[in-house]
Amino acid sequence: MAIKLDRVIPWGRSRREYELMFKLSEADCRGGILGCGDGPASFNAEMTAAGHSVVSVDPIYEFNAAQIRERFETSAPEILSQVAKTPERWTWGFHKDIHHLERNRRHAMEMFAADLPSGMAAGRYRIGALPKLPFGDGEFKLALCSHFLFLYSENFDLDFHVASVRELCRVAAEVRIFPVITNAQILSPHLEPVRAAMREHGIESSVERVEYELQKDGNEMVRFRRSA
Ligand SMILES: C[S@@+](CC[C@H](N)C(=O)[O-])C[C@H]1O[C@@H](n2cnc3c(N)ncnc32)[C@H](O)[C@@H]1O
Repeated sequence: MAIKLDRVIPWGRSRREYELMFKLSEADCRGGILGCGDGPASFNAEMTAAGHSVVSVDPIYEFNAAQIRERFETSAPEILSQVAKTPERWTWGFHKDIHHLERNRRHAMEMFAADLPSGMAAGRYRIGALPKLPFGDGEFKLALCSHFLFLYSENFDLDFHVASVRELCRVAAEVRIFPVITNAQILSPHLEPVRAAMREHGIESSVERVEYELQKDGNEMVRFRRSA
C-alpha cells in the first residue's frame, strides 16, 4: 500500500469544517467515527480532546509528523498560487480570504502533528488505504470521507469508487462523503453509477446540501445507509 509522499497534498481541515461538511450532530459525535483519508486534518485531535471516539485511516500515516509537515511546507506555495490565479473557482465564507485559508490549514496541520505520535500509539491513527480497510464489519457507527472519493474522479475510476464505498459501508452503519464534485468543479461522473451500484446491494443514498463551500458549488455531501 506504499504511497509516495511527494504525490500527496497534505492539506487538512478542522473539526468545525468536518461538522459543516458532514452536518454532524451531537448524536453523531457520540458514536464511534471513522475518518477515512483524514490526512493532516485536525478532526481526530480536536474530537479526542473533546472526549469523542475517532479513528483516522490514511496511507500517509506511514510517515511521521515531521515528514508530513515538510511536505505541507513544500506543497503549500503552489496550492496557494493556484488558488490566487483562479478567483472564479472559490467562495470565501468560512475562510475569509486566501491568507485566512492558509492560516487555518497550517493550524489544522500543527494540531494534527502534535497529536500524531500519541494517536498512533493509541491506535487512533491507522495506516490503510481504500478499497480495503483494516477494520471489522460494522466496527463504526459513522464513516466520513472528506476530499478524496469523488473529488479525484479523474485519478480513480468507477470500479475503485464502487469498491471503496462498499468497503466503507461494510465497516460503518452510515457513510458520508464530501464533496460530490471533482477538482474540475463538475459533478463527479461516478456519483450516480456508485449510487445505483449501492442500491443493488440494499444501500440507499441521498445527496444533501450542506453549510460549507470553498470550491464554488462544492456544497453537497452524499449519505449512504443500509435500508432497514
Ligand atoms: C486532500 S486530502 C484530504 C484530507 C482530509 N480528509 C481533509 O479533508 O482535511 C486527501 C487524503 O486522501 C488520502 N488518500 C490517498 N489515497 C487514499 C486511499 N486509497 N485510501 C484512503 N485515503 C487515501 C491522502 O493521503 C490524503 O491524506
